[in-house]
Amino acid sequence: MNPFIDNILTDSCQRRVNYLRISVTDRCNLRCRYCAPLIPKQIRKNELLTFEEMYRVVETAVACGITKVRLTGGEPLCRRGVIDFIRRLRDLPELTDISMTSNGTMVAAHAARLKEAGLNRINISLDTLDRDKFRWLTGADRFSEVWEGIEAASESGFDPVKINTVVMKGFNDDEIEQMAGLAVRFPFHVRFIEYMPIGIDPSDARSSFLPVSEVEAKIRRLGKLTPVSGPAASGPAVQYRIGEGKGEVGLIGSMSSHFCSSCNRLRLTATGYLRPCLLSDDQVNVIKPIRRGITDSEIKALILETLSKKGKEHLLSFTGGPSLQSCMGSIGG
Ligand code: 5AD
Ligand code: SF4
Repeated sequence: MNPFIDNILTDSCQRRVNYLRISVTDRCNLRCRYCAPLIPKQIRKNELLTFEEMYRVVETAVACGITKVRLTGGEPLCRRGVIDFIRRLRDLPELTDISMTSNGTMVAAHAARLKEAGLNRINISLDTLDRDKFRWLTGADRFSEVWEGIEAASESGFDPVKINTVVMKGFNDDEIEQMAGLAVRFPFHVRFIEYMPIGIDPSDARSSFLPVSEVEAKIRRLGKLTPVSGPAASGPAVQYRIGEGKGEVGLIGSMSSHFCSSCNRLRLTATGYLRPCLLSDDQVNVIKPIRRGITDSEIKALILETLSKKGKEHLLSFTGGPSLQSCMGSIGG
């Protein structure tokens, strides 16, 4: 079957792929225990795709039917030039949605420029509202900067600001109601994400795992949950409004319920590999061929090769199953 149906990438499971997540850097100014390896691999600058090279991949991907791009990291704002890159992406008319996932520490300084450059949406990661716990988890005393980042994003017109919270038993399960309460008081979308055994010992992840069904049970105590049918952009989250709350809560059951059947994504890593899935080590090298001078149609072929590797569903589990060698900071969550 020809995957180029009307310029729409369709994989062998008939999933339409229109979303590219780009890790613009593997660097991060935090060291979250569940993400960053304790001794980060030193990647030299020339091992990273340049923005010029990333742009070539995006341009070609857009010609194949990609309409949405998310910039991730590491921390995307750690890479100089990322705002100019967004401005360039905005000039691709087929690209209807440009978003970013950030740890929030540098958002306050950049929110207005990000908005002006054409960033459509921003997700900020925040797992706790307790300054000491934040420092323990991330290795840095920067809770206030993240909160200021969330406020600045909201004031700069990002609506909604999405807050990503990874739920960990024994760490923040006692804060679920308080975190969800943010979506009552503010027009924020608070998204609770199940902890995935990536780059860490699966048995550690298992003891910290809390299914989103239990998160939902806790949130129910705050008020009536009204399901909200989000736009396609809400992706794998099940969304609710709590009572008359200003915002919404989302539940992302990455482990307890597969949403692989509706997965619409490809990924590009900072070191220049295309990946069909977050939860698989399969990858296709694009940096080498690009530096050898390949043509756009050869880049297209690499995108199609990546698409052909997209599995039906991920096989990650806490017991047995394949383990994943890559860590989140290098693939870009
Ligand atoms: N499980 C679930 N989510 C994770 N993230 C990082 N590591 C994990 C993990 N092991 C999240 C971050 C951020 C996004 C990029 O991925 O908190 O919100
Ligand atoms: Fe940095 Fe995000 Fe990883 Fe934390 S989870 S170390 S903020 S990339």
